[in-house]
Amino acid sequence: MNILVLGSGGREHALAWAILQNPKCDRLICAPGNAGMAAIAECADIDICDGGAVARFCDANAIDFVVIGPEAPLAAGVADRLRALDITCFGPSADAARLEASKAFTKDICAAVNAPTAGYAHFTDAEAARAYIRAQGAPIVIKADGLAAGKGVIVAMHEAEALDAIDMMFGGEFGAAGAEVVIEEFMEGEEASFFVLVDGETCLPIGTAQDHKRVGEGDTGPNTGGMGAYSPAPVLTDAIANVAMDQIIRPTMAEMARRGTPYQGVLYAGLMIKDGQPRLVEYNARFGDPECQVLMMRLGAQALDLMLACAEGRLDQMSVNWADDHALTVVMAAKGYPGSYAKGSEIRGLENCTSDSAQMVFHAGTRTDAGRLLANGGRVLNVTARGTTLAEAQKRAYAMVDQIDWPDGFCRRDIGWRALPDA
Ligand code: AMP
Ligand code: GLY
Repeated sequence: MNILVLGSGGREHALAWAILQNPKCDRLICAPGNAGMAAIAECADIDICDGGAVARFCDANAIDFVVIGPEAPLAAGVADRLRALDITCFGPSADAARLEASKAFTKDICAAVNAPTAGYAHFTDAEAARAYIRAQGAPIVIKADGLAAGKGVIVAMHEAEALDAIDMMFGGEFGAAGAEVVIEEFMEGEEASFFVLVDGETCLPIGTAQDHKRVGEGDTGPNTGGMGAYSPAPVLTDAIANVAMDQIIRPTMAEMARRGTPYQGVLYAGLMIKDGQPRLVEYNARFGDPECQVLMMRLGAQALDLMLACAEGRLDQMSVNWADDHALTVVMAAKGYPGSYAKGSEIRGLENCTSDSAQMVFHAGTRTDAGRLLANGGRVLNVTARGTTLAEAQKRAYAMVDQIDWPDGFCRRDIGWRALPDA
């Protein structure tokens, strides 16, 4: 079959890499793609948030299946457009993707089904928000309602910080995303990511992961899109995963279907775990990046079968063949990230890194120019390896990092530390 992957990050490179391992894939096109995807598939320069343009491309290229990587095309209704034209597509409708696009919507759904999550209130008025913060006290969490590229959340340890966040959000810092603000109870615990495929009805868990959001070692410094990840997440035990399915995921999905907006695609639940009890931090309507890279490394070729079954409503016939292994990815970023950074520095030495089913350098922000590989974003490479233990996966990943010659890049040297207490 002919398959189109939408997106240009490490997540989409990993999806493309897994899809290509499946003999069902005859032709793979990535749009817009990056240098890593260009090395394994065709790339096409289309506006992936323009449903009409994507549909025309599918028609012209006899595309049988579209996999949507990032949230922006989902929120823009690209999946709706494709499905209306009978093009098989992996990714939720714009209505269902509101679970990611609107935090207030998600909180209301959680309340309707009694799913455990942080207590909250939402505000469109700054003065009312300030009064609520003064009444609740710190620590407290302030969130812009809409999509804010992962930057719309402020975990305020002090009341003054929370009040400043209100000024900033209602002051227009996040544009329309900040016109409504959710204020949440601060939850303590350890965070983990839970990935579940949903075909509108059946919910099939496909893996767990943990990422490192902070830029600095020991999980310090500013938040980023993620500096590394590993799978599985030991904190998310089978027992806790079952509780999350029963109390959070299945009730939310049933409520979405009851409202006439069934969810179809991967649901990524961020969970806060304390004393054996998971609580929902947030939903995303897509795979995590870089969590997808470690999941794809562990799932391999079956990822395509699972995504197809999800898109075609056949998940009740599927199961996941878990390899009893671990995968870990280290993000190499441009110096300065998540603040300002330069683009265009040269990366050498990738040819020294073996690529096989146990190790792979996925590209995020890269491009090539006259045969040279250049950095083209903040997060640039995802150096990924699997192993029979997490320690082995980590050792292999850093051995590859050490082969890469990129003076203008950096990475954390402690990815996986929470799960490797004795290292
Ligand atoms: P979100 O975009 O909602 O995932 O928030 C980003 C990060 O902020 C999360 O991954 C958590 O680390 C943190 N966070 C969000 N909400 C809460 C909360 N209610 N309590 C504690 N930490 C939170
Ligand atoms: N790594 C976090 C995310 O993809 O949202």
